[in-house]
Amino acid sequence: MTAPAATPDRQRRSAPANPILALWRSTVGKKIVMATTGLIWAGFLVTHMAGNLLAFAGATKINEYSHFLHEAIEILWPARIVLAVAIVLHVTAAYQLTRVSSAARPIGYGQQEPQVSTTAARTIRWGGVLIFLFIVLHLLHFTFGTIHPMFNEGDPYGNLVVGLRVKWVAALYLVMMVVLGLHLYHGTWSAFRTLGVTPPSGHPLKRRIAGGFAIALWLGFTMVPLGVLLGIIR
Ligand code: HEM
Repeated sequence: MTAPAATPDRQRRSAPANPILALWRSTVGKKIVMATTGLIWAGFLVTHMAGNLLAFAGATKINEYSHFLHEAIEILWPARIVLAVAIVLHVTAAYQLTRVSSAARPIGYGQQEPQVSTTAARTIRWGGVLIFLFIVLHLLHFTFGTIHPMFNEGDPYGNLVVGLRVKWVAALYLVMMVVLGLHLYHGTWSAFRTLGVTPPSGHPLKRRIAGGFAIALWLGFTMVPLGVLLGIIR
């Protein structure tokens, strides 16, 4: 007589009614949420960077692009809602995973951390906190104009020039773009591993792909404050 197939402990303990809730409660589920929401923001950043670079083509180009987006409510608001939900989920999952990993060491999933510790990997959490604070200040600066010296709604070009002509503000943007680059480097690489695109290895080629993406975004974003400081955008 064959013995009944053993049910794994984990399966028996958690046979939840709601699979989405079960996924969210699991460590792997939170990692998947972090990866997906991070990639949503990475996608937004690619388009945002491209839009910002229109500043080099002059005031008319970037202002027209901005007006187009602001008038396309059917694109703008769904995108804003997706980004807002994504950041709430990303931050919540990051906070909860940090608590789990500091409460229980060593943890199984932690073994999938890269064998090679990089600056980006070591700074991912603090970088995330700084980027979150940056986003809040950035919205007050260029979207709501609350902390902008001469905000003119509908004139992002003028707002960019006036806002980034202040040297310490431009310096803050430049430093934050380095923090963003490091976060993107480690974040995109981890996201692809979590989503199964790459196996959990420290293979240099995969790091190079993540590195190339991070450098492209860092460079693209950095060029605008630099362009204002150098008087190319004025
Ligand atoms: C040097 C870097 C950056 C510059 C010069 C810049 C510039 C701007 C400007 C001018 C706007 C207002 C656009 C408009 O009203 O049409 C804006 C909006 C925004 N930026 Fe940036 N940005 C930079 C980096 C970032 C980064 C790194 C993030 C996110 C991590 C970000 C997130 C946003 C968001 C969420 C908005 C609001 C979009 C909306 O209207 O819904 N930006 N940015």
